[in-house]
Amino acid sequence: MKAILLGTAAGGGFPQWNCTCPLCTRSRKGDPAVPARTQDGLAISRDGERWLLVNASPDLRTQLNRTPALAPGPGRRETPIEGVLLTDAELDHTMGLLTLREQAGLKVWAPATVMAAMSDDFPVQHVTAQYNAWEWRELESNICGFTVETFGLGRKRPRYAVGSFAEGDWVVAYRFVDAESGGVLVYAPCLSAWPPGFDSWLDSAGCVIIDGTFFSPDEMTDSGVDSTKQAAMGHLPIDGPDGSLVRARAHRGSHWIYTHLNNTNPVLDKTSAAYRRVRHSGAEVPVDGTVLEW
Ligand code: MLT
Ligand code: MN
Ligand code: ZN
Repeated sequence: MKAILLGTAAGGGFPQWNCTCPLCTRSRKGDPAVPARTQDGLAISRDGERWLLVNASPDLRTQLNRTPALAPGPGRRETPIEGVLLTDAELDHTMGLLTLREQAGLKVWAPATVMAAMSDDFPVQHVTAQYNAWEWRELESNICGFTVETFGLGRKRPRYAVGSFAEGDWVVAYRFVDAESGGVLVYAPCLSAWPPGFDSWLDSAGCVIIDGTFFSPDEMTDSGVDSTKQAAMGHLPIDGPDGSLVRARAHRGSHWIYTHLNNTNPVLDKTSAAYRRVRHSGAEVPVDGTVLEW
């Protein structure tokens, strides 16, 4: 089982194009302690030949062109990408679908809510259909050779989705099981709170890739955002008694990887105390392009 971290930053990427905060400024200047990161997305494969993209960020073209495993061929229009599976309908996880419009026959799997958003408020289904016919599919228990289990994470819908009234979870996590090797990977890049039952769902996962948007519950105060508004953004912080890092300690046997890092997050800086704290707890914040294989 293989996975490639195509991107590891939250919406806007890092450095964020319109931000002059100290972290973005240092990264823009090329400080090696704060490497640039593109918006988060994952590629996974059982055999290294057929690949499934999990989410499609606005940076997808850059991510594909720098990833040898995802290079096209051998046919003129062949690519190892079989399809895209969406965890939610946020723009940072769906805009890359437009980048894939040259691909005929692409398969896209998503929860019903996300499917509705892709047809109503952000009509990607209609737009891409004018370029190539795609297969838009409801979630299936077997995708690209993986057994896929879904964990519903709530009804936080994207800000643009004002006219979609689909019922059900707007955000989900996926658990990919490779029946042959026994490999298990969980991808949960958007997590607003720690839901009941989530701990046991993570058990036996060799790799847990999880929402690391914010380190602390009030780190956006420097940007003039109060902590209630930060909380309303729906991302459980890493630190604190209710944060996700205390959970990481209970899953010491897994690779515990943070992704979707916001440009305010001090763990972006390898010289920070926050970075050391995360690493000391056994968690990781790998850079873009990291390949995981087990
Ligand atoms: C989020 O993760 O909360 C959203 O992607 C925010 C955004 O639209 O940039
Ligand atoms: Mn996001
Ligand atoms: Zn910034």
